[in-house]
Amino acid sequence: MGNADNNMYEEKLCNSFPTIENVPQEYIIDSKKYKPIYLLDGKIIEWTGPLKDVSSPICIRQNEATERLIIGQVPMMDEDAAMKGLHAAVHAWNNGRGEWPTMSVKKRITSVEKFVARMQQVREEVVKLLMWEIGKSMDDSYKEFDRTVEYIIKTIDALKEMDRNNSRFSLDNGVIAQVRRSPLGVCLSMGPFNYPLNETYTTLIPALIMGNTLVVKPPKFGALLHQPLLAAFTECFPKGVVNFIYGDGATIISPIMKSGLVDVLAFIGSSRAADILKMQHPRPHRLRSILGLDAKNPALVMPDADLDLAVRECVSGSLSFNGQRCTGIKLIFVHKSIKDQFLTKLIDDIDKLPQGMPWEKGVKLTPLPEFEKANTLNGYVNNAIEKGAKIINKGGGTFYKTLYRPAIVFPVTPDSILYDVEQFGPVVPICAYSDEQEFLDFVTLSKYGQQLSLFGNNPKIIARLIDQLTNQVSRINVNSQCQRGPDTLPFTGRKDSAEGTLSISDALRCFSIRSLVASQANETSKDLIQQIVLGRYSSFLNTDFIL
Ligand code: G3H
Repeated sequence: MGNADNNMYEEKLCNSFPTIENVPQEYIIDSKKYKPIYLLDGKIIEWTGPLKDVSSPICIRQNEATERLIIGQVPMMDEDAAMKGLHAAVHAWNNGRGEWPTMSVKKRITSVEKFVARMQQVREEVVKLLMWEIGKSMDDSYKEFDRTVEYIIKTIDALKEMDRNNSRFSLDNGVIAQVRRSPLGVCLSMGPFNYPLNETYTTLIPALIMGNTLVVKPPKFGALLHQPLLAAFTECFPKGVVNFIYGDGATIISPIMKSGLVDVLAFIGSSRAADILKMQHPRPHRLRSILGLDAKNPALVMPDADLDLAVRECVSGSLSFNGQRCTGIKLIFVHKSIKDQFLTKLIDDIDKLPQGMPWEKGVKLTPLPEFEKANTLNGYVNNAIEKGAKIINKGGGTFYKTLYRPAIVFPVTPDSILYDVEQFGPVVPICAYSDEQEFLDFVTLSKYGQQLSLFGNNPKIIARLIDQLTNQVSRINVNSQCQRGPDTLPFTGRKDSAEGTLSISDALRCFSIRSLVASQANETSKDLIQQIVLGRYSSFLNTDFIL
Protein backbone atom coordinates (compact mmCIF):
# COMPACT_ATOMS: atom_id res chain seq x y z
CA MET A 1 0.00 0.00 0.00
CA GLY A 2 1.38 3.40 -0.93
CA ASN A 3 1.99 6.31 1.39
CA ALA A 4 -0.92 8.20 -0.14
CA ASP A 5 -3.30 5.42 0.92
CA ASN A 6 -1.80 5.35 4.40
CA ASN A 7 -2.22 9.09 4.69
CA MET A 8 -5.81 8.78 3.63
CA TYR A 9 -6.55 6.19 6.33
CA GLU A 10 -4.63 8.17 8.92
CA GLU A 11 -6.57 11.29 8.08
CA LYS A 12 -9.81 9.37 8.35
CA LEU A 13 -8.83 8.15 11.80
CA CYS A 14 -7.79 11.66 12.80
CA ASN A 15 -11.15 13.03 11.70
CA SER A 16 -12.94 10.41 13.78
CA PHE A 17 -11.94 12.26 16.92
CA PRO A 18 -14.39 15.00 17.91
CA THR A 19 -13.87 18.59 18.87
CA ILE A 20 -15.28 19.26 22.31
CA GLU A 21 -18.33 20.89 20.67
CA ASN A 22 -18.98 17.71 18.68
CA VAL A 23 -19.31 15.49 21.75
CA PRO A 24 -23.05 14.82 22.14
CA GLN A 25 -24.46 16.71 25.10
CA GLU A 26 -25.45 13.57 27.02
CA TYR A 27 -21.90 12.16 26.88
CA ILE A 28 -20.01 15.28 27.91
CA ILE A 29 -17.95 14.57 30.98
CA ASP A 30 -17.33 17.05 33.75
CA SER A 31 -13.71 16.50 34.74
CA LYS A 32 -14.18 18.62 37.89
CA LYS A 33 -16.80 16.22 39.19
CA TYR A 34 -14.31 13.48 40.03
CA LYS A 35 -12.24 14.27 43.10
CA PRO A 36 -9.30 12.03 44.07
CA ILE A 37 -11.12 9.99 46.71
CA TYR A 38 -10.59 6.60 48.28
CA LEU A 39 -12.53 4.39 50.69
CA LEU A 40 -10.97 3.63 54.04
CA ASP A 41 -12.63 2.02 57.03
CA GLY A 42 -16.13 3.04 56.02
CA LYS A 43 -15.24 6.62 55.09
CA ILE A 44 -14.80 8.29 51.73
CA ILE A 45 -11.73 10.48 52.05
CA GLU A 46 -10.23 13.02 49.68
CA TRP A 47 -6.55 12.34 49.11
CA THR A 48 -4.36 15.38 49.55
CA GLY A 49 -1.07 13.84 48.41
CA PRO A 50 0.27 13.31 44.88
CA LEU A 51 -2.27 12.70 42.12
CA LYS A 52 -2.33 11.09 38.71
CA ASP A 53 -4.29 12.45 35.77
CA VAL A 54 -6.88 10.13 34.29
CA SER A 55 -6.18 10.39 30.59
CA SER A 56 -9.01 9.24 28.33
CA PRO A 57 -8.21 7.25 25.18
CA ILE A 58 -10.71 9.59 23.52
CA CYS A 59 -8.73 12.43 21.99
CA ILE A 60 -10.21 15.85 21.42
CA ARG A 61 -9.33 17.94 18.39
CA GLN A 62 -8.53 21.53 19.16
CA ASN A 63 -6.94 23.85 16.62
CA GLU A 64 -3.99 21.93 15.21
CA ALA A 65 -3.65 19.52 18.14
CA THR A 66 -5.52 16.31 18.94
CA GLU A 67 -4.87 15.11 22.48
CA ARG A 68 -6.19 12.64 25.03
CA LEU A 69 -8.69 14.38 27.30
CA ILE A 70 -7.92 14.55 31.02
CA ILE A 71 -11.15 13.53 32.73
CA GLY A 72 -10.17 13.52 36.40
CA GLN A 73 -7.51 12.57 38.86
CA VAL A 74 -6.90 9.60 41.10
CA PRO A 75 -4.82 9.40 44.27
CA MET A 76 -1.25 8.17 44.10
CA MET A 77 -1.32 6.78 47.61
CA ASP A 78 1.83 5.97 49.51
CA GLU A 79 2.74 2.84 51.43
CA ASP A 80 1.50 4.21 54.71
CA ALA A 81 -1.96 5.07 53.38
CA ALA A 82 -2.27 1.74 51.57
CA MET A 83 -1.34 -0.15 54.73
CA LYS A 84 -4.12 1.71 56.55
CA GLY A 85 -6.52 0.22 54.02
CA LEU A 86 -5.13 -3.24 54.71
CA HIS A 87 -5.30 -2.75 58.48
CA ALA A 88 -8.93 -1.62 58.20
CA ALA A 89 -9.74 -4.90 56.43
CA VAL A 90 -7.70 -6.89 58.98
CA HIS A 91 -9.54 -5.15 61.81
CA ALA A 92 -12.96 -5.82 60.22
CA TRP A 93 -11.97 -9.47 59.86
CA ASN A 94 -10.86 -9.51 63.50
CA ASN A 95 -9.49 -13.04 63.33
CA GLY A 96 -12.76 -14.24 61.85
CA ARG A 97 -14.78 -12.81 64.74
CA GLY A 98 -15.68 -9.47 63.12
CA GLU A 99 -19.28 -8.42 62.62
CA TRP A 100 -19.25 -9.27 58.88
CA PRO A 101 -17.54 -12.69 58.95
CA THR A 102 -19.81 -13.87 61.77
CA MET A 103 -23.00 -12.40 60.36
CA SER A 104 -25.63 -14.92 59.29
CA VAL A 105 -25.72 -15.76 55.59
CA LYS A 106 -29.23 -14.34 55.42
CA LYS A 107 -28.13 -10.95 56.72
CA ARG A 108 -25.10 -10.84 54.42
CA ILE A 109 -27.42 -11.55 51.50
CA THR A 110 -29.71 -8.70 52.59
CA SER A 111 -26.72 -6.32 52.59
CA VAL A 112 -25.65 -7.36 49.09
CA GLU A 113 -29.26 -7.04 47.88
CA LYS A 114 -29.30 -3.48 49.19
CA PHE A 115 -25.99 -2.83 47.46
CA VAL A 116 -27.15 -4.11 44.08
CA ALA A 117 -30.26 -1.92 44.27
CA ARG A 118 -28.06 1.10 45.00
CA MET A 119 -25.71 0.09 42.20
CA GLN A 120 -28.47 0.21 39.64
CA GLN A 121 -29.05 3.88 40.43
CA VAL A 122 -25.61 4.80 39.05
CA ARG A 123 -25.85 2.76 35.83
CA GLU A 124 -25.74 5.75 33.46
CA GLU A 125 -22.80 7.36 35.22
CA VAL A 126 -20.72 4.18 35.33
CA VAL A 127 -21.47 3.46 31.66
CA LYS A 128 -20.36 6.95 30.71
CA LEU A 129 -17.12 6.50 32.64
CA LEU A 130 -16.52 3.11 30.98
CA MET A 131 -16.72 4.85 27.61
CA TRP A 132 -14.39 7.68 28.58
CA GLU A 133 -11.87 5.72 30.63
CA ILE A 134 -11.32 2.67 28.47
CA GLY A 135 -13.02 3.58 25.19
CA LYS A 136 -15.55 0.73 25.39
CA SER A 137 -18.49 1.20 23.02
CA MET A 138 -21.75 2.31 24.58
CA ASP A 139 -23.46 -1.01 23.81
CA ASP A 140 -20.63 -3.01 25.35
CA SER A 141 -20.45 -0.66 28.33
CA TYR A 142 -24.13 -1.19 29.07
CA LYS A 143 -23.59 -4.93 28.60
CA GLU A 144 -20.69 -4.88 31.07
CA PHE A 145 -22.78 -3.06 33.67
CA ASP A 146 -25.90 -5.20 33.22
CA ARG A 147 -23.91 -8.43 33.16
CA THR A 148 -22.34 -7.42 36.47
CA VAL A 149 -25.72 -6.72 38.06
CA GLU A 150 -27.00 -10.06 36.79
CA TYR A 151 -23.87 -11.76 38.13
CA ILE A 152 -24.54 -10.35 41.59
CA ILE A 153 -28.19 -11.37 41.55
CA LYS A 154 -27.30 -14.90 40.41
CA THR A 155 -24.54 -15.06 43.04
CA ILE A 156 -27.16 -14.32 45.71
CA ASP A 157 -29.35 -17.12 44.34
CA ALA A 158 -26.41 -19.53 44.23
CA LEU A 159 -25.51 -18.76 47.84
CA LYS A 160 -29.11 -19.30 48.94
CA GLU A 161 -29.06 -22.67 47.22
CA MET A 162 -25.71 -23.59 48.78
CA ASP A 163 -26.89 -22.54 52.21
CA ARG A 164 -30.12 -24.53 51.90
CA ASN A 165 -28.07 -27.63 51.09
CA ASN A 166 -25.83 -26.98 54.08
CA SER A 167 -28.69 -26.40 56.49
CA ARG A 168 -28.94 -30.05 57.37
CA PHE A 169 -27.02 -32.40 59.61
CA SER A 170 -25.34 -35.59 58.46
CA LEU A 171 -25.14 -38.72 60.53
CA ASP A 172 -22.47 -41.26 59.69
CA ASN A 173 -20.51 -43.80 61.71
CA GLY A 174 -21.91 -42.47 64.95
CA VAL A 175 -20.87 -38.89 64.18
CA ILE A 176 -23.38 -36.09 63.74
CA ALA A 177 -22.10 -33.09 61.78
CA GLN A 178 -23.05 -29.93 60.02
CA VAL A 179 -20.80 -28.80 57.17
CA ARG A 180 -20.83 -25.22 55.90
CA ARG A 181 -18.56 -22.89 53.98
CA SER A 182 -16.73 -20.19 55.92
CA PRO A 183 -14.79 -17.12 54.76
CA LEU A 184 -11.02 -17.22 54.41
CA GLY A 185 -9.98 -13.82 55.73
CA VAL A 186 -8.63 -10.70 54.06
CA CYS A 187 -8.85 -10.61 50.28
CA LEU A 188 -6.86 -8.37 47.96
CA SER A 189 -8.87 -7.91 44.77
CA MET A 190 -7.47 -6.47 41.54
CA GLY A 191 -9.34 -6.46 38.23
CA PRO A 192 -8.10 -5.74 34.70
CA PHE A 193 -8.59 -2.63 32.55
CA ASN A 194 -10.61 -4.37 29.82
CA TYR A 195 -13.45 -5.32 32.19
CA PRO A 196 -12.71 -2.91 35.02
CA LEU A 197 -16.16 -3.17 36.56
CA ASN A 198 -17.20 -6.71 35.72
CA GLU A 199 -13.99 -8.55 36.42
CA THR A 200 -13.37 -6.61 39.63
CA TYR A 201 -16.85 -7.47 40.84
CA THR A 202 -16.73 -11.12 39.79
CA THR A 203 -14.17 -11.59 42.57
CA LEU A 204 -15.16 -8.77 44.94
CA ILE A 205 -18.80 -9.83 45.28
CA PRO A 206 -18.32 -13.57 45.91
CA ALA A 207 -15.48 -12.80 48.33
CA LEU A 208 -17.67 -10.27 50.13
CA ILE A 209 -20.86 -12.29 50.30
CA MET A 210 -18.96 -15.26 51.73
CA GLY A 211 -17.87 -13.08 54.67
CA ASN A 212 -14.32 -12.06 53.73
CA THR A 213 -13.10 -8.48 54.11
CA LEU A 214 -11.43 -6.69 51.24
CA VAL A 215 -8.85 -4.31 49.92
CA VAL A 216 -9.64 -3.44 46.31
CA LYS A 217 -7.22 -1.80 43.94
CA PRO A 218 -8.91 -0.69 40.71
CA PRO A 219 -6.98 -1.11 37.45
CA LYS A 220 -4.74 1.53 35.87
CA PHE A 221 -7.46 2.37 33.32
CA GLY A 222 -10.99 2.17 34.69
CA ALA A 223 -10.35 3.55 38.16
CA LEU A 224 -12.75 6.51 38.21
CA LEU A 225 -15.78 4.39 37.37
CA HIS A 226 -15.66 2.84 40.83
CA GLN A 227 -16.21 6.24 42.45
CA PRO A 228 -20.00 6.40 42.02
CA LEU A 229 -20.22 3.09 43.89
CA LEU A 230 -18.10 3.95 46.92
CA ALA A 231 -20.99 5.53 48.82
CA ALA A 232 -23.04 2.35 48.35
CA PHE A 233 -20.28 0.33 50.03
CA THR A 234 -20.31 2.64 53.05
CA GLU A 235 -24.11 2.40 53.30
CA CYS A 236 -24.46 -1.35 52.88
CA PHE A 237 -21.55 -2.93 54.76
CA PRO A 238 -19.92 -2.51 58.17
CA LYS A 239 -16.92 -0.21 58.21
CA GLY A 240 -13.61 -1.66 57.08
CA VAL A 241 -15.21 -4.57 55.22
CA VAL A 242 -14.49 -3.01 51.80
CA ASN A 243 -11.62 -0.57 51.26
CA PHE A 244 -10.57 0.97 47.94
CA ILE A 245 -6.99 2.11 47.44
CA TYR A 246 -5.37 3.76 44.40
CA GLY A 247 -1.81 4.15 43.23
CA ASP A 248 1.22 2.49 41.76
CA GLY A 249 1.30 -1.28 42.30
CA ALA A 250 4.96 -1.43 43.35
CA THR A 251 4.39 1.28 45.97
CA ILE A 252 1.08 0.17 47.46
CA ILE A 253 0.62 -3.51 46.66
CA SER A 254 4.09 -4.87 47.40
CA PRO A 255 4.04 -3.83 51.08
CA ILE A 256 0.54 -5.26 51.43
CA MET A 257 1.65 -8.63 50.04
CA LYS A 258 4.91 -8.60 52.02
CA SER A 259 2.98 -8.04 55.27
CA GLY A 260 1.66 -11.60 55.07
CA LEU A 261 -1.77 -10.30 56.14
CA VAL A 262 -3.49 -11.14 52.88
CA ASP A 263 -5.24 -14.52 52.87
CA VAL A 264 -6.68 -14.43 49.35
CA LEU A 265 -5.24 -12.89 46.21
CA ALA A 266 -7.85 -12.34 43.51
CA PHE A 267 -5.99 -10.98 40.53
CA ILE A 268 -6.79 -10.71 36.84
CA GLY A 269 -3.83 -9.60 34.78
CA SER A 270 -0.48 -10.89 33.59
CA SER A 271 1.14 -14.09 34.88
CA ARG A 272 4.38 -12.12 35.33
CA ALA A 273 2.72 -9.70 37.78
CA ALA A 274 0.87 -12.56 39.51
CA ASP A 275 4.15 -14.42 40.11
CA ILE A 276 5.74 -11.32 41.62
CA LEU A 277 2.78 -10.77 43.96
CA LYS A 278 2.60 -14.38 45.08
CA MET A 279 6.32 -14.56 45.77
CA GLN A 280 6.14 -11.46 47.95
CA HIS A 281 3.93 -13.25 50.47
CA PRO A 282 6.08 -14.53 53.35
CA ARG A 283 3.93 -17.64 53.93
CA PRO A 284 2.74 -18.70 50.46
CA HIS A 285 0.98 -21.78 51.83
CA ARG A 286 -1.39 -19.43 53.65
CA LEU A 287 -2.27 -17.55 50.49
CA ARG A 288 -5.10 -18.73 48.30
CA SER A 289 -4.80 -17.37 44.77
CA ILE A 290 -7.59 -16.97 42.27
CA LEU A 291 -5.99 -15.77 39.08
CA GLY A 292 -7.15 -15.00 35.54
CA LEU A 293 -4.01 -14.59 33.44
CA ASP A 294 -2.64 -14.39 29.90
CA ALA A 295 -4.00 -16.36 26.97
CA LYS A 296 -3.35 -16.92 23.28
CA ASN A 297 -6.52 -18.69 22.19
CA PRO A 298 -6.20 -20.16 18.70
CA ALA A 299 -8.91 -21.02 16.17
CA LEU A 300 -8.68 -23.89 13.69
CA VAL A 301 -10.66 -23.45 10.47
CA MET A 302 -10.91 -26.84 8.77
CA PRO A 303 -11.60 -27.49 5.06
CA ASP A 304 -15.27 -28.37 5.64
CA ALA A 305 -16.04 -25.42 7.92
CA ASP A 306 -19.06 -23.22 7.27
CA LEU A 307 -17.03 -20.24 6.12
CA ASP A 308 -19.64 -17.56 6.77
CA LEU A 309 -20.02 -18.74 10.32
CA ALA A 310 -16.26 -19.20 10.86
CA VAL A 311 -15.50 -15.71 9.56
CA ARG A 312 -18.28 -14.15 11.64
CA GLU A 313 -17.07 -15.83 14.82
CA CYS A 314 -13.39 -15.15 14.08
CA VAL A 315 -14.06 -11.45 13.46
CA SER A 316 -16.04 -11.09 16.65
CA GLY A 317 -13.61 -13.35 18.55
CA SER A 318 -10.56 -11.38 17.40
CA LEU A 319 -11.91 -7.86 17.42
CA SER A 320 -14.70 -7.46 20.01
CA PHE A 321 -13.60 -4.56 22.17
CA ASN A 322 -10.65 -4.10 19.78
CA GLY A 323 -9.24 -7.53 20.63
CA GLN A 324 -8.78 -6.51 24.27
CA ARG A 325 -10.32 -9.63 25.81
CA CYS A 326 -8.41 -12.37 27.55
CA THR A 327 -10.71 -14.83 25.77
CA GLY A 328 -10.15 -13.23 22.35
CA ILE A 329 -9.08 -15.38 19.39
CA LYS A 330 -5.45 -14.37 19.00
CA LEU A 331 -4.20 -16.68 16.23
CA ILE A 332 -6.15 -18.29 13.39
CA PHE A 333 -5.04 -21.48 11.61
CA VAL A 334 -6.83 -21.82 8.29
CA HIS A 335 -6.45 -24.86 6.02
CA LYS A 336 -4.48 -24.12 2.85
CA SER A 337 -7.26 -25.44 0.62
CA ILE A 338 -9.75 -22.75 1.77
CA LYS A 339 -7.44 -19.93 2.73
CA ASP A 340 -8.28 -17.70 -0.24
CA GLN A 341 -12.06 -17.77 0.32
CA PHE A 342 -11.60 -17.40 4.08
CA LEU A 343 -9.23 -14.43 3.78
CA THR A 344 -11.39 -12.66 1.22
CA LYS A 345 -14.46 -12.89 3.46
CA LEU A 346 -12.47 -11.95 6.54
CA ILE A 347 -11.00 -8.85 4.89
CA ASP A 348 -14.43 -7.87 3.70
CA ASP A 349 -16.10 -8.25 7.09
CA ILE A 350 -13.33 -6.46 8.99
CA ASP A 351 -13.38 -3.65 6.47
CA LYS A 352 -17.05 -3.09 7.28
CA LEU A 353 -16.53 -2.70 11.04
CA PRO A 354 -17.41 0.87 11.98
CA GLN A 355 -14.61 2.66 13.79
CA GLY A 356 -15.17 5.76 15.87
CA MET A 357 -16.13 7.11 19.25
CA PRO A 358 -17.76 4.83 21.87
CA TRP A 359 -21.10 6.68 21.78
CA GLU A 360 -21.56 6.31 18.00
CA LYS A 361 -24.38 3.96 17.11
CA GLY A 362 -23.16 0.52 16.03
CA VAL A 363 -19.47 1.38 16.48
CA LYS A 364 -17.23 -1.68 16.81
CA LEU A 365 -13.67 -0.33 16.91
CA THR A 366 -12.82 2.38 19.37
CA PRO A 367 -9.77 4.16 20.88
CA LEU A 368 -7.23 2.06 22.78
CA PRO A 369 -6.51 3.09 26.39
CA GLU A 370 -2.93 1.79 26.75
CA PHE A 371 -0.20 4.33 26.06
CA GLU A 372 1.93 3.65 22.97
CA LYS A 373 -0.23 0.61 22.17
CA ALA A 374 -0.30 1.32 18.42
CA ASN A 375 3.49 1.34 18.29
CA THR A 376 3.69 -1.88 20.29
CA LEU A 377 1.25 -3.57 17.93
CA ASN A 378 3.12 -2.38 14.87
CA GLY A 379 6.35 -3.70 16.39
CA TYR A 380 4.78 -7.19 16.35
CA VAL A 381 3.39 -6.67 12.86
CA ASN A 382 6.73 -5.46 11.45
CA ASN A 383 8.48 -8.45 12.96
CA ALA A 384 6.02 -10.78 11.19
CA ILE A 385 6.61 -8.88 7.94
CA GLU A 386 10.37 -9.40 8.34
CA LYS A 387 9.62 -13.14 8.58
CA GLY A 388 7.66 -13.11 5.33
CA ALA A 389 4.09 -12.07 6.23
CA LYS A 390 2.08 -9.18 4.79
CA ILE A 391 -0.69 -6.91 6.01
CA ILE A 392 -3.46 -8.10 3.70
CA ASN A 393 -6.20 -5.52 4.36
CA LYS A 394 -6.09 -1.98 3.06
CA GLY A 395 -4.95 0.50 5.66
CA GLY A 396 -4.29 -2.28 8.22
CA GLY A 397 -1.95 -1.10 10.96
CA THR A 398 -2.49 2.58 10.18
CA PHE A 399 -3.08 4.59 13.31
CA TYR A 400 -3.68 8.04 14.57
CA LYS A 401 -3.12 8.62 18.28
CA THR A 402 -5.28 5.95 19.99
CA LEU A 403 -7.28 4.77 16.97
CA TYR A 404 -5.71 1.79 15.20
CA ARG A 405 -7.07 0.25 12.01
CA PRO A 406 -7.06 -3.55 12.45
CA ALA A 407 -4.17 -5.32 10.74
CA ILE A 408 -4.78 -8.77 9.25
CA VAL A 409 -1.36 -10.37 9.03
CA PHE A 410 -0.75 -13.42 6.81
CA PRO A 411 1.01 -15.86 6.70
CA VAL A 412 2.37 -15.72 10.23
CA THR A 413 5.19 -18.19 10.79
CA PRO A 414 6.20 -19.89 14.07
CA ASP A 415 9.36 -17.80 14.31
CA SER A 416 7.36 -14.53 14.48
CA ILE A 417 6.59 -12.74 17.73
CA LEU A 418 2.91 -12.66 16.74
CA TYR A 419 2.80 -16.45 16.82
CA ASP A 420 3.32 -16.47 20.61
CA VAL A 421 2.62 -13.03 22.03
CA GLU A 422 -0.75 -12.07 23.44
CA GLN A 423 -1.24 -8.97 21.29
CA PHE A 424 -4.33 -7.80 23.21
CA GLY A 425 -5.30 -5.40 20.45
CA PRO A 426 -6.71 -5.20 16.91
CA VAL A 427 -4.17 -7.36 15.11
CA VAL A 428 -5.41 -10.59 13.50
CA PRO A 429 -2.55 -13.03 12.81
CA ILE A 430 -3.29 -15.94 10.49
CA CYS A 431 -1.32 -19.08 9.63
CA ALA A 432 -2.05 -21.44 6.74
CA TYR A 433 -1.79 -25.11 7.74
CA SER A 434 -1.76 -28.31 5.75
CA ASP A 435 -1.51 -30.85 8.56
CA GLU A 436 -3.56 -30.49 11.76
CA GLN A 437 -0.45 -31.58 13.68
CA GLU A 438 0.76 -27.96 13.23
CA PHE A 439 -2.22 -26.80 15.29
CA LEU A 440 -1.75 -29.53 17.87
CA ASP A 441 1.92 -28.55 18.22
CA PHE A 442 0.99 -24.91 18.68
CA VAL A 443 -1.46 -25.73 21.46
CA THR A 444 0.88 -28.21 23.14
CA LEU A 445 3.95 -25.99 23.09
CA SER A 446 2.07 -22.82 24.04
CA LYS A 447 2.67 -21.41 27.52
CA TYR A 448 -1.05 -20.74 27.69
CA GLY A 449 -4.02 -23.05 28.04
CA GLN A 450 -7.24 -21.09 28.32
CA GLN A 451 -9.51 -21.94 25.35
CA LEU A 452 -9.58 -22.70 21.63
CA SER A 453 -12.12 -22.76 18.82
CA LEU A 454 -12.66 -25.50 16.23
CA PHE A 455 -14.52 -24.74 13.00
CA GLY A 456 -15.54 -27.79 10.99
CA ASN A 457 -18.34 -30.27 10.51
CA ASN A 458 -16.81 -33.75 10.44
CA PRO A 459 -17.97 -35.44 13.67
CA LYS A 460 -15.09 -37.90 13.73
CA ILE A 461 -12.42 -35.24 13.24
CA ILE A 462 -14.01 -32.88 15.77
CA ALA A 463 -14.32 -35.72 18.30
CA ARG A 464 -10.69 -36.72 17.78
CA LEU A 465 -9.49 -33.14 18.26
CA ILE A 466 -11.64 -32.71 21.35
CA ASP A 467 -10.10 -35.82 22.89
CA GLN A 468 -6.57 -34.72 21.99
CA LEU A 469 -7.02 -31.20 23.30
CA THR A 470 -9.23 -31.28 26.41
CA ASN A 471 -6.16 -31.79 28.59
CA GLN A 472 -4.44 -28.77 27.04
CA VAL A 473 -7.06 -26.06 27.45
CA SER A 474 -10.05 -25.53 29.72
CA ARG A 475 -12.71 -24.91 27.13
CA ILE A 476 -13.10 -26.07 23.54
CA ASN A 477 -15.58 -24.05 21.51
CA VAL A 478 -17.08 -25.88 18.55
CA ASN A 479 -18.08 -23.60 15.69
CA SER A 480 -18.09 -20.62 17.98
CA GLN A 481 -15.66 -18.03 19.26
CA CYS A 482 -13.91 -18.32 22.63
CA GLN A 483 -15.68 -16.59 25.51
CA ARG A 484 -16.19 -16.54 29.23
CA GLY A 485 -19.97 -16.55 29.33
CA PRO A 486 -22.52 -17.56 30.25
CA ASP A 487 -21.25 -16.86 33.75
CA THR A 488 -22.76 -20.04 35.12
CA LEU A 489 -20.10 -22.01 33.19
CA PRO A 490 -16.69 -22.59 34.76
CA PHE A 491 -14.07 -20.07 33.65
CA THR A 492 -10.50 -21.21 34.16
CA GLY A 493 -7.33 -22.12 32.29
CA ARG A 494 -4.36 -24.46 32.31
CA LYS A 495 -0.62 -23.68 32.31
CA ASP A 496 0.07 -19.91 32.53
CA SER A 497 -3.57 -18.94 31.94
CA ALA A 498 -5.25 -19.23 35.33
CA GLU A 499 -5.33 -20.54 38.84
CA GLY A 500 -8.68 -21.51 40.35
CA THR A 501 -12.06 -21.59 38.67
CA LEU A 502 -14.59 -18.82 38.50
CA SER A 503 -18.27 -19.12 37.72
CA ILE A 504 -21.19 -17.92 39.75
CA SER A 505 -21.21 -21.01 41.95
CA ASP A 506 -17.48 -21.90 41.71
CA ALA A 507 -16.51 -18.42 42.91
CA LEU A 508 -18.43 -18.94 46.15
CA ARG A 509 -16.30 -22.02 46.74
CA CYS A 510 -13.03 -20.25 45.79
CA PHE A 511 -13.57 -17.58 48.41
CA SER A 512 -14.47 -19.94 51.24
CA ILE A 513 -13.37 -23.06 53.05
CA ARG A 514 -15.41 -25.97 54.32
CA SER A 515 -15.88 -25.85 58.10
CA LEU A 516 -17.83 -28.29 60.18
CA VAL A 517 -19.09 -28.86 63.64
CA ALA A 518 -19.17 -32.54 64.62
CA SER A 519 -20.07 -34.56 67.68
CA GLN A 520 -20.61 -38.14 68.83
CA ALA A 521 -24.22 -38.89 68.04
CA ASN A 522 -25.14 -39.80 71.66
CA GLU A 523 -28.25 -38.58 73.43
CA THR A 524 -26.47 -35.83 75.37
CA SER A 525 -24.85 -34.37 72.24
CA LYS A 526 -28.01 -34.61 70.22
CA ASP A 527 -29.90 -32.83 72.96
CA LEU A 528 -27.23 -30.10 73.17
CA ILE A 529 -27.26 -29.55 69.41
CA GLN A 530 -31.03 -29.46 69.39
CA GLN A 531 -31.07 -26.80 72.08
CA ILE A 532 -28.58 -24.65 70.11
CA VAL A 533 -30.65 -24.97 66.95
CA LEU A 534 -34.06 -24.47 68.57
CA GLY A 535 -32.80 -21.58 70.66
CA ARG A 536 -31.25 -20.06 67.52
CA TYR A 537 -28.11 -19.39 69.54
CA SER A 538 -25.63 -19.82 66.63
CA SER A 539 -25.42 -18.29 63.17
CA PHE A 540 -23.22 -21.21 62.01
CA LEU A 541 -25.04 -24.14 63.62
CA ASN A 542 -28.59 -23.77 62.42
CA THR A 543 -31.16 -25.32 60.13
CA ASP A 544 -32.60 -22.08 58.73
CA PHE A 545 -33.88 -22.36 55.20
CA ILE A 546 -33.29 -19.12 53.32
CA LEU A 547 -36.17 -18.40 50.97
O1 G3H B 1 -10.94 -10.53 29.36
C1 G3H B 1 -11.42 -11.60 29.67
C2 G3H B 1 -12.87 -11.76 29.94
O2 G3H B 1 -13.11 -12.65 30.97
C3 G3H B 1 -13.59 -12.20 28.75
O3 G3H B 1 -14.91 -12.32 28.97
O4 G3H B 1 -15.41 -13.67 26.97
O5 G3H B 1 -17.19 -12.52 28.20
O6 G3H B 1 -15.56 -11.22 26.86
P1 G3H B 1 -15.83 -12.43 27.67
